[in-house]
Amino acid sequence: KMESPAAADYIFKIVLTGDSGVGKSNLLSRFTRNEFTLESRSTIGVEFSTKEVQVDGKTVKVQIWDTAGQERFMAITKAYYRNAYGALLVFDILKASTFQNLDQWIRYNEVRANAGIDCCVVLIGNKSDQRHIRAVMSDDAKKYADERNIKYMETSALDATNVEQAFRILIQDIY
Ligand code: GTP
Ligand code: MG
Repeated sequence: KMESPAAADYIFKIVLTGDSGVGKSNLLSRFTRNEFTLESRSTIGVEFSTKEVQVDGKTVKVQIWDTAGQERFMAITKAYYRNAYGALLVFDILKASTFQNLDQWIRYNEVRANAGIDCCVVLIGNKSDQRHIRAVMSDDAKKYADERNIKYMETSALDATNVEQAFRILIQDIY
């Protein structure tokens, strides 16, 4: 039996990047399966999930590559930025070092360069459910994003705040 053509009108490939432990895998599982894991395992190399979303009445199939934040995987993950249409660049608002490392992620992984000139990036400050003990101020993150002409959002994979919105903004940007 012949398979019918893909139902999706568009296929978008996006990547999740940022330090280990910032919550990339949980943002992905929250978005694609509405699941959160309190003690999740660190990603080995790269994992991916897909989800279909509606944009302007069209079905967009989003292929999301969840890359390992651990430095030892950089050689592997780097390859996945090629051909990506966009990226969620994630840091942990509770941990200043993950914010300070953003430049490295932009540079080492060449989020924008490797992903091509059309790559859209959204900066994500995750773990907003714990904002009472935050180490990175929203204004500083907002300023960092403004200077690089990218959008900034705060999310919580734990309580689901802004997760859908963050992916949607990126998808809408690409679209
Ligand atoms: P690597 O795969 O090593 O790059 O890490 P990662 O960025 O995928 O982090 P992961 O999603 O595995 O989450 C790391 C830890 O942070 C886990 O213990 C999660 O439960 C926790 N975590 C993730 N998102 C949130 C969040 O929004 N709020 C809180 N409080 N904890 C979170
Ligand atoms: Mg992970």
